[in-house]
Amino acid sequence: MKSSFVLGALSFLASSTGCAAKMTVPNSLFLKSIAESVSLPMYTWSANGTHTAKGYTTKAGDKTSVEGMKEDCDNINLNKKIAVDFRSDVFGPGLIGYFYKCEKIRDDTNLYWFTISSGNPSLIDKMCDPNTNYPIVYDSQHSTWWIDEPFDCTQRTSPPTHSQ
Ligand SMILES: *[C@@H]1O[C@H](CO)[C@@H](O)[C@H](O)[C@H]1NC(C)=O
Repeated sequence: MKSSFVLGALSFLASSTGCAAKMTVPNSLFLKSIAESVSLPMYTWSANGTHTAKGYTTKAGDKTSVEGMKEDCDNINLNKKIAVDFRSDVFGPGLIGYFYKCEKIRDDTNLYWFTISSGNPSLIDKMCDPNTNYPIVYDSQHSTWWIDEPFDCTQRTSPPTHSQ
């Protein structure tokens, strides 16, 4: 679920036209290569916004993982992150998350800026629903157990030819 690879400057996923031919992009070989490797569908629904997460050293969630939370935040600010099949334990396959900015806002809380994309609008609905629950999940890269808090979607878009 945190299976992800790291990319810089991939803001095209924030684009919501869902139509590669109409995008004005400086390097289409680069973007096409990424779209193919993450199996980005032709028509995509997207949302952006922010969300918070808390990192712990144990599954019981009694001690904040100070190091792991800092590493994750620094890594996102430095390298950005694409998560293919983001939180598949909650959504199943098909959500592609792009995380491009992070800020420690409290001793136990990171704030993340995200753009999410999917060929299935109900997955975007579920992610933008403040009542969706996220079980605690282990991230071996940072030896940290994470509690994802609700995703606050500020903007949503649909593909132009497939309006909802
Ligand atoms: C979402 O995207 C819009 C349009 O690009 C932008 O103005 C807004 O700041 C973004 N929201 C967040 C939380 O990044």
